[in-house]
Amino acid sequence: MTEIRPSFRDLAVEGVRGLQPYQPGKPIEELARELGLELDSIVKLASNENPMGPGTRAINAARDALTEVHRYPDGNGYSLKLALSRHHGVAPECITIGNGSNDVLALLAGAFLDTGREAVFSEHAFAVYPIVTQAVGATARVAKALPEGSDMPFGHDLAAMAAAVGPATRLVFIANPNNPTGTWLESQPLKDFLRAMPDDVIVVVDEAYFEYADADRYPDATQWLSAFPNLVVTRTFSKAYGLAGFRVGYALSHPGIAELLNRVRQPFNVNLVAQAAAEAALADQDYIRQSVAVNGEQRHWLHGKLQALGLTVLPSAANFLCFRVGARADAVYQGLLERGVIVRPVAGYGLPGYLRVTVGLPAENQRFIDALSELLTGET
Ligand SMILES: Cc1ncc(COP(=O)(O)O)c(C=O)c1O
Repeated sequence: MTEIRPSFRDLAVEGVRGLQPYQPGKPIEELARELGLELDSIVKLASNENPMGPGTRAINAARDALTEVHRYPDGNGYSLKLALSRHHGVAPECITIGNGSNDVLALLAGAFLDTGREAVFSEHAFAVYPIVTQAVGATARVAKALPEGSDMPFGHDLAAMAAAVGPATRLVFIANPNNPTGTWLESQPLKDFLRAMPDDVIVVVDEAYFEYADADRYPDATQWLSAFPNLVVTRTFSKAYGLAGFRVGYALSHPGIAELLNRVRQPFNVNLVAQAAAEAALADQDYIRQSVAVNGEQRHWLHGKLQALGLTVLPSAANFLCFRVGARADAVYQGLLERGVIVRPVAGYGLPGYLRVTVGLPAENQRFIDALSELLTGET
């Protein structure tokens, strides 16, 4: 390709020049192309999706909505917001819907961060926090995580996070539970942290895996919205609700924050079919109960099998497990790919010896364990 002068990179804004794009889990189609495998022979346990597939009510609502796609969606998401407002017991003015909760995280950065401002988050936290921070030219203050030997290995250290907050801090990102570690924060320490935050610091509690979290004293931060006007809670339809491909997430916040996010939001950021599917999915709490039950049982099974292979497994309140393989992590990841099983390497999260596996259906989990056993012990 001809060299361009000045280079496009030089033309980019500073934050974007140093940015590394988000690395998603390997798509099934890509592995099928690379290894000449049949699509249905591949098990993908790499993106923390709901292995049960979408719920029937969501599929039917999406199908019905297809006849309306010559129209723009309702840019304000009236109907979906009303349903969310009833579900959470908050006013519709407190809700911002996004193209996935990822979109909402970017809106928060766009509204509150800039050159000279800072965002605080933990080491090993969800990869989108540094991306949205850097993209708008703001500075990331990365707090040390809890040590490997603690009760919550590599989890958020709230004391270290509070210490990283300074006069230029405008946003704090907390993932509860965190991805990729699966670790979580209990109610009291998180509430104490919120109480200690200055009024001019907005604390984002990212509850993407909320529905799965069944740990003792695991909080529902949406209950604290009226006590803490600077609190934003993000949720998603991508995980337990089984609609990752539709891209719907949302934030609950003080209406003053929602009003600012609305200024930077694309007018039609959540498409018409996705809005209909999300509303139907919200009404289908039986599907959620079933998904959570399957996950709880299978996570327990997988945890036991990984431990039986002599592997250290991080505690998880979500729909995935992060486990230590050591120096062989990359070779094991490749070996699993060759056997048609996609998991997630997490070296990019500062956890080079670890891999993350999403909890799948029983047959998928068995495939993964069989392939892993073969790689680690030479036995099936
Ligand atoms: C902690 C966390 N937050 C947010 C997201 C974004 O999800 P989505 O944009 O699909 O809502 C993810 C996705 O993996 C996640 O793990």
